[in-house]
Amino acid sequence: MMPISPLMIEHRLIERMIDVTKRQLQRWETGGQTDPLFIDLAVDFIRTYADRCHHGKEEDILFRDLARKPLSNEHKHIMEELLEDHRWGRETTARLVNANEAYRKGDAKAVFTILDCVKALVEFYPKHIEKEDRHFFIPVMDYFSEEEKDAMLNEEYEFDRDLIHEIYRDYVTRAEEHVER
Ligand SMILES: [Fe+2]
Ligand SMILES: [Fe+2]
Repeated sequence: MMPISPLMIEHRLIERMIDVTKRQLQRWETGGQTDPLFIDLAVDFIRTYADRCHHGKEEDILFRDLARKPLSNEHKHIMEELLEDHRWGRETTARLVNANEAYRKGDAKAVFTILDCVKALVEFYPKHIEKEDRHFFIPVMDYFSEEEKDAMLNEEYEFDRDLIHEIYRDYVTRAEEHVER
């Protein structure tokens, strides 16, 4: 298996989450209100799965190793764009979290920011995924030897194995902070 295979499989789950979020968005746009609990769920998915688990492996393993290769101008350019996309996703998710909190506290106008952020995110992810799946992942595999590809794949498995422990260490830290307050 190639190191891009787990990443492409992860894209399919991200697409499922985007599809269900799109359906919610249509309802919210018609009704003029949102569902803070659904937003919590979507934000947790984006931050933990799409960003830490998925973008984490892209940035810390695949892009890191690619940066050591003599990339063509086109590939260098796409990689910079992909990194910028990841940063934009983080910022937009942070805006969504703030607006969701404001909405919960009774700021009805926050619904407009929420709808804006959700719309931007559901339009962004499919384009970002298409860029990787169709224009980047497969051609950049040519920069690597079989051994290098195997090493990346193994590192991805280790990354995932460690992540579950990291996530729940964070949960405990947050629980401790909550009780100390
Ligand atoms: Fe990405
Ligand atoms: Fe990706």
